[in-house]
Amino acid sequence: TERSYVMIKPDGVQRGLVGEIISRFERKGFTIKGLKLFSCPAALAEEHYKDLSSKPFYPKLVKYITSGPVVCLALEGPGVVASARKLIGVTNPLQAEPGTIRGDLGIETGRNVIHGSDSPENGEREIALWFKEGELCEWEPTLTPWLRE
Ligand code: GTP
Ligand code: MG
Repeated sequence: TERSYVMIKPDGVQRGLVGEIISRFERKGFTIKGLKLFSCPAALAEEHYKDLSSKPFYPKLVKYITSGPVVCLALEGPGVVASARKLIGVTNPLQAEPGTIRGDLGIETGRNVIHGSDSPENGEREIALWFKEGELCEWEPTLTPWLRE
Protein backbone atom coordinates (compact mmCIF):
# COMPACT_ATOMS: atom_id res chain seq x y z
CA THR A 1 0.00 0.00 0.00
CA GLU A 2 1.02 3.58 -0.64
CA ARG A 3 2.98 5.44 2.03
CA SER A 4 3.62 9.12 2.74
CA TYR A 5 6.20 10.83 4.89
CA VAL A 6 4.50 13.50 6.98
CA MET A 7 6.41 15.70 9.40
CA ILE A 8 5.21 18.17 12.00
CA LYS A 9 7.73 21.00 11.71
CA PRO A 10 9.36 22.66 14.77
CA ASP A 11 6.71 25.42 14.97
CA GLY A 12 3.96 22.80 15.18
CA VAL A 13 5.77 21.03 18.01
CA GLN A 14 6.57 24.25 19.89
CA ARG A 15 2.96 25.46 19.56
CA GLY A 16 1.59 22.26 21.08
CA LEU A 17 -0.22 21.16 17.92
CA VAL A 18 1.16 17.59 17.75
CA GLY A 19 -1.92 15.85 19.19
CA GLU A 20 -4.38 17.84 17.12
CA ILE A 21 -2.47 17.18 13.88
CA ILE A 22 -1.93 13.46 14.44
CA SER A 23 -5.63 13.14 15.32
CA ARG A 24 -6.66 14.41 11.92
CA PHE A 25 -4.73 11.65 10.12
CA GLU A 26 -5.92 8.98 12.56
CA ARG A 27 -9.55 10.03 12.19
CA LYS A 28 -9.25 10.09 8.40
CA GLY A 29 -8.32 6.41 8.55
CA PHE A 30 -4.65 6.24 7.63
CA THR A 31 -2.40 3.82 9.46
CA ILE A 32 0.58 5.12 11.45
CA LYS A 33 3.51 2.85 10.58
CA GLY A 34 6.22 5.06 12.08
CA LEU A 35 6.20 7.87 14.65
CA LYS A 36 8.98 9.67 16.51
CA LEU A 37 10.09 12.98 18.02
CA PHE A 38 13.41 13.84 16.45
CA SER A 39 16.05 16.60 16.40
CA CYS A 40 17.01 16.82 12.77
CA PRO A 41 20.69 17.34 11.88
CA ALA A 42 21.38 20.03 9.24
CA ALA A 43 22.73 17.43 6.79
CA LEU A 44 19.41 15.57 6.83
CA ALA A 45 17.34 18.75 6.35
CA GLU A 46 19.64 19.67 3.43
CA GLU A 47 19.20 16.23 1.86
CA HIS A 48 15.43 16.22 2.38
CA TYR A 49 15.02 19.62 0.69
CA LYS A 50 17.89 19.23 -1.83
CA ASP A 51 15.58 20.00 -4.80
CA LEU A 52 15.13 23.49 -3.33
CA SER A 53 18.86 24.12 -2.73
CA SER A 54 19.05 26.83 -5.42
CA LYS A 55 16.14 28.82 -3.90
CA PRO A 56 16.91 32.05 -2.04
CA PHE A 57 14.97 30.82 1.03
CA TYR A 58 16.87 27.49 1.25
CA PRO A 59 19.26 28.51 4.09
CA LYS A 60 16.30 29.86 6.10
CA LEU A 61 14.37 26.65 5.39
CA VAL A 62 17.19 24.45 6.71
CA LYS A 63 17.52 26.70 9.77
CA TYR A 64 13.75 26.48 10.38
CA ILE A 65 13.59 22.68 10.13
CA THR A 66 16.58 22.27 12.47
CA SER A 67 15.41 24.92 14.98
CA GLY A 68 13.75 22.38 17.31
CA PRO A 69 12.40 18.86 17.37
CA VAL A 70 10.09 17.62 14.62
CA VAL A 71 7.59 14.76 14.70
CA CYS A 72 8.18 12.21 11.94
CA LEU A 73 5.28 10.13 10.68
CA ALA A 74 5.11 7.29 8.18
CA LEU A 75 1.48 6.99 7.10
CA GLU A 76 0.00 4.21 5.00
CA GLY A 77 -3.25 3.84 3.12
CA PRO A 78 -4.78 3.91 -0.35
CA GLY A 79 -4.10 7.30 -1.95
CA VAL A 80 -2.41 8.56 1.22
CA VAL A 81 0.07 10.85 -0.58
CA ALA A 82 -2.50 13.01 -2.38
CA SER A 83 -4.99 12.79 0.48
CA ALA A 84 -2.42 13.94 3.07
CA ARG A 85 -1.53 16.90 0.82
CA LYS A 86 -5.24 17.79 0.69
CA LEU A 87 -5.61 17.56 4.45
CA ILE A 88 -2.44 19.69 4.82
CA GLY A 89 -3.46 22.42 2.35
CA VAL A 90 -1.34 24.52 -0.03
CA THR A 91 2.15 25.79 0.87
CA ASN A 92 1.09 29.31 1.92
CA PRO A 93 -1.19 29.00 4.98
CA LEU A 94 -2.95 32.28 4.09
CA GLN A 95 -4.03 30.69 0.81
CA ALA A 96 -4.79 27.28 2.31
CA GLU A 97 -8.49 26.47 2.63
CA PRO A 98 -10.10 26.60 6.06
CA GLY A 99 -10.47 23.03 7.24
CA THR A 100 -6.95 22.14 6.15
CA ILE A 101 -4.12 21.93 8.66
CA ARG A 102 -2.24 24.92 7.25
CA GLY A 103 -5.49 26.81 6.60
CA ASP A 104 -6.59 26.37 10.19
CA LEU A 105 -3.29 26.64 12.00
CA GLY A 106 -0.85 28.93 10.18
CA ILE A 107 -0.24 32.37 8.66
CA GLU A 108 3.18 32.25 6.91
CA THR A 109 4.89 30.04 4.31
CA GLY A 110 8.08 30.09 6.35
CA ARG A 111 6.17 28.68 9.37
CA ASN A 112 3.73 26.35 7.69
CA VAL A 113 3.56 23.73 10.45
CA ILE A 114 3.78 20.50 8.47
CA HIS A 115 5.33 18.65 5.55
CA GLY A 116 3.79 15.97 3.32
CA SER A 117 5.43 13.98 0.50
CA ASP A 118 4.44 15.15 -3.00
CA SER A 119 4.53 11.74 -4.76
CA PRO A 120 4.49 8.05 -3.77
CA GLU A 121 8.14 7.83 -4.97
CA ASN A 122 9.13 10.69 -2.68
CA GLY A 123 7.07 9.09 0.10
CA GLU A 124 9.31 6.02 -0.06
CA ARG A 125 12.47 8.11 -0.49
CA GLU A 126 11.65 10.29 2.51
CA ILE A 127 10.58 7.42 4.79
CA ALA A 128 13.93 5.73 4.03
CA LEU A 129 15.70 9.01 4.75
CA TRP A 130 14.03 9.81 8.09
CA PHE A 131 13.47 6.35 9.59
CA LYS A 132 16.11 3.74 10.37
CA GLU A 133 15.68 0.01 9.88
CA GLY A 134 13.59 -1.27 12.79
CA GLU A 135 11.88 2.04 13.56
CA LEU A 136 8.83 1.22 11.43
CA CYS A 137 6.16 -1.06 12.80
CA GLU A 138 4.59 -3.70 10.58
CA TRP A 139 1.02 -3.99 11.85
CA GLU A 140 -2.51 -4.02 10.53
CA PRO A 141 -5.22 -2.34 12.62
CA THR A 142 -8.10 -4.69 13.53
CA LEU A 143 -10.35 -1.83 12.37
CA THR A 144 -9.26 -2.16 8.72
CA PRO A 145 -12.40 -4.09 7.54
CA TRP A 146 -14.48 -1.16 8.83
CA LEU A 147 -12.40 1.32 6.82
CA ARG A 148 -11.75 -0.60 3.61
CA GLU A 149 -14.32 -2.59 1.66
P1 GTP B 1 6.56 20.64 2.08
O1 GTP B 1 5.42 19.70 2.36
O2 GTP B 1 7.24 21.15 3.31
O3 GTP B 1 7.52 20.07 1.07
O4 GTP B 1 5.86 21.94 1.45
P2 GTP B 1 5.25 22.11 -0.02
O5 GTP B 1 5.42 20.85 -0.81
O6 GTP B 1 3.89 22.67 0.13
O7 GTP B 1 6.18 23.25 -0.63
P3 GTP B 1 7.63 23.11 -1.31
O8 GTP B 1 8.06 21.70 -1.38
O9 GTP B 1 7.60 23.91 -2.57
O10 GTP B 1 8.54 23.91 -0.27
C1 GTP B 1 9.05 23.25 0.86
C2 GTP B 1 8.98 24.17 2.04
O11 GTP B 1 9.87 25.27 1.83
C3 GTP B 1 7.63 24.83 2.29
O12 GTP B 1 6.75 24.01 3.01
C4 GTP B 1 8.03 26.04 3.11
O13 GTP B 1 8.28 25.68 4.46
C5 GTP B 1 9.35 26.42 2.45
N1 GTP B 1 9.14 27.45 1.43
C6 GTP B 1 8.66 27.28 0.18
N2 GTP B 1 8.59 28.47 -0.47
C7 GTP B 1 9.03 29.39 0.40
C8 GTP B 1 9.21 30.81 0.34
O14 GTP B 1 8.93 31.46 -0.67
N3 GTP B 1 9.69 31.42 1.47
C9 GTP B 1 10.02 30.72 2.60
N4 GTP B 1 10.49 31.38 3.67
N5 GTP B 1 9.86 29.38 2.69
C10 GTP B 1 9.38 28.74 1.61
MG1 MG C 1 7.26 19.80 -0.98
